[in-house]
Amino acid sequence: MTPSVAEHFPALRSGFSYLDNASGAQVPTHCIEAITDFLTRGSCNVGQPYAASVRATEVKARARAATAEFLGCAPEEVILGTSATALTFQLSRAFSRLFRAGDEVVISELEHESNASPWRWLEAQGVEVKVWRARWPEGRLDPADLRPLLTPRTRLLAVTAAANSVGATPDVATAARLARAVGAWTLVDAVHSSPHQLPDVRAWDVDFATFSPYKVFGPHLGCLYVRAGLLPQLPADKLWFVPDDSPQKLEPGTAPHESLAGWLGSLRYLREVLGDGQPGRAGLQRAFERIESLERPLLESTLERLLRHPRVRLYGPPEPQGRVATFAFNVAGHSPRAVAEHLARHEVGVGAGHYYATLAAQALGVMPEGVVRVSLLHYNTPRDVERLLAGLDSLP
Ligand SMILES: Cc1ncc(COP(=O)(O)O)c(C=O)c1O
Repeated sequence: MTPSVAEHFPALRSGFSYLDNASGAQVPTHCIEAITDFLTRGSCNVGQPYAASVRATEVKARARAATAEFLGCAPEEVILGTSATALTFQLSRAFSRLFRAGDEVVISELEHESNASPWRWLEAQGVEVKVWRARWPEGRLDPADLRPLLTPRTRLLAVTAAANSVGATPDVATAARLARAVGAWTLVDAVHSSPHQLPDVRAWDVDFATFSPYKVFGPHLGCLYVRAGLLPQLPADKLWFVPDDSPQKLEPGTAPHESLAGWLGSLRYLREVLGDGQPGRAGLQRAFERIESLERPLLESTLERLLRHPRVRLYGPPEPQGRVATFAFNVAGHSPRAVAEHLARHEVGVGAGHYYATLAAQALGVMPEGVVRVSLLHYNTPRDVERLLAGLDSLP
């Protein structure tokens, strides 16, 4: 019998059912050992000629190259940072010096605040922020609703590749094409989609994209894609001697080198355990085919059971198509927090709240308490789902 992928994740050995993966994934041994190895063999900064520093320099360069393979771009287009939110704020600060009063930014109603608040701050200087409303309760973004919002003054479209609230997966390639037709850039938030679907910035044909390795079985880090040629146009806060076309421009300060080492370990897990060991992007593509095949039955059965549960009101796409295995719902007679606390007593970890998807929560009328969120990843099992359902059934 093929050993279960869960065996590679020490935290899963406790038997606890981690169903709050959208807030951060568990990590495989490959990641943990790579971090330990980096710190054990000499925790050093980059750029010096002694062995441990040479190792740190190599780790950073390899992490940039491997992240480029993950995103489907060139290493010079990758910015390594601490979180997607911090990187998006850095971008918005640079854009604030480019955008003029009367310019427009369109954000989708499915955005996490990470891809909304940084643009809202530009309103103070006269930039208009428009919201591309979703169709509720499915949370579907229809390109027909985007078209009328785009004008020659639109500078940026901010859209997610998967909603961390209701799990819907908008067609970002079509949205980016519409934005480009009026001369606007597109920033895709791939934070929630990336543990499920390999990002592909070239196929999406977008200008900027973010994702966070800690959602992809890695350590706490954030990454940003900036299309080649755009970096020199960005009046970012940078150290004066850093060249204008260098990714370092958006990487002030020392990188978390041990986390970069860990991220390389996570990518090795993807390639070697889930994929067929092939190098390059092809190995990652194989891994994500496997992820899809592991997640699909869990997604279908959980969706079906939540939809027909008499006390559950599920939001988001009612079909397996156009969604990831992230389920937002409420249970009649119980607050989301009470449901999460009840499930925690049954060894099931789920979330309760709005998950910073405040526009979606407002549209659904569930503020301030929000919804229960169950988010499954490939390492979850039918037993986790059974436990969840049994926990829901045992609510008073
Ligand atoms: C869709 C989405 N975007 C952005 C973020 C923020 O990512 P980070 O924690 O790296 O800032 C999250 C975090 O949960 C998220 O789910």
